[in-house]
Amino acid sequence: MSTKSEKSIADSLEVNKRLLPHIPFLLQDLWVLGSSIDQIIEIVSSLNSLYPLTKILDLGCGKGAVSVQLAARYGFQAVGIDAMTPFLEEAEKKAVEYNVTHLCQFINQDLHEYVSNDHDYDLVILAALGGIFGSFKNTIAKLQTQVHTGGFIIIDDGYLKKHNQLDRKGYEHYKNYDNTIRELTFFGDRLINQIDTSTVSKNINREYLDLIKRRGEELISKHHELKKDIDDYIRLQAEECDVLENEIEGALWVIRKR
Ligand SMILES: C[S@@+](CC[C@H](N)C(=O)[O-])C[C@H]1O[C@@H](n2cnc3c(N)ncnc32)[C@H](O)[C@@H]1O
Repeated sequence: MSTKSEKSIADSLEVNKRLLPHIPFLLQDLWVLGSSIDQIIEIVSSLNSLYPLTKILDLGCGKGAVSVQLAARYGFQAVGIDAMTPFLEEAEKKAVEYNVTHLCQFINQDLHEYVSNDHDYDLVILAALGGIFGSFKNTIAKLQTQVHTGGFIIIDDGYLKKHNQLDRKGYEHYKNYDNTIRELTFFGDRLINQIDTSTVSKNINREYLDLIKRRGEELISKHHELKKDIDDYIRLQAEECDVLENEIEGALWVIRKR
């Protein structure tokens, strides 16, 4: 993995690069790594122009929770991109478990490199990747290149409840609601659906935090030298839960490319 990919992955998971090799251990109890999976399934069912064999692209697919479940539920053909090998191995196993290996393809590649070429998917999903492409305007500009005209873009992220800016690493792209929508529709694409995700995510995030904490303690008992990095990671995760609850309204958007 290149240094650039490594930094991008570490940033997306809010983890110190030194701890990255231990992330598969720490996150072993989680399949979904941040996306609002049940609500993605729900919002997709409202898109009546999608049908079996719809071609979807799942950028930063992690352990394949979104790709595998959409393939299993709707018969979609999913391509998942991620650069974290142990996550992709899990994704492959899940595809076997759900009987969708014929519908899912997982590619080990930096997602920036993948989207540097245009594609003509029916639907592209960016779930729990935050500001990986910068502002929402830049994100839309990039995601547009991955779907054909009339194709769909799903973004699982959120907007600021009270302010128009948040001074926290990795949260620079967040804006208030009006400015977020302005950026999402800047190029004339149509926002066709939105679901608020905060209520559901709140409990799940706390549940996940407990699971990660437990694995953290286990890892510290075997590798005491990692204590500081693990403690820092758990602290950041707990802080993230607070920020998500107090500052950000989680939202899932469906945009149709004009
Ligand atoms: C927060 S997780 C979300 C995973 C998945 N969408 C989910 O919700 O289960 C972010 C994922 O993006 C991947 N990632 C981050 N930057 C990447 C990059 N530049 N290229 C490929 N994958 C990347 C990480 O490895 C991780 O699996």
